[in-house]
Amino acid sequence: MPARPSTSRRTVLRGAAVAPVAGLGLAACSAPGDGDSAAATPTAPVDLGAENEISKGGAKLYRDHNVVVSRDGDGTLKAYSTVCTHAGCAINKLQGTTLICPCHGSQFDAVTGEVVQAPATEPLTELSVKAANGRIVAGPAA
Ligand code: FES
Repeated sequence: MPARPSTSRRTVLRGAAVAPVAGLGLAACSAPGDGDSAAATPTAPVDLGAENEISKGGAKLYRDHNVVVSRDGDGTLKAYSTVCTHAGCAINKLQGTTLICPCHGSQFDAVTGEVVQAPATEPLTELSVKAANGRIVAGPAA
């Protein structure tokens, strides 16, 4: 008498419901918002380097600090944040006195901070700057 085949053999595979919730990719460029989300610019005075590195009519980009400093024909220093006012990218290129944003190609005048090529429409944020003991010191706008 054949044994009744057991059909009770069940293999319950419980699929491990491991569904890692990957972080949604955040855009590299944060929205400018009110400026709070922008890449870091000096929040306290920072020594950028020797004053004589910037000649009259010239400019220098300090990428580590997201600052550009320029000197007009009268010798007056100006400093601007190089966080692009279009979508917050850090501007990484200075040709002569023209800053060029790598993200969408906006261009700014490093002497005036004004936009010279869209898509940006707002000028760069001006920072305070002074020369002290032959050094250039820039910081947040006074
Ligand atoms: Fe600079 Fe768009 S973020 S051009």
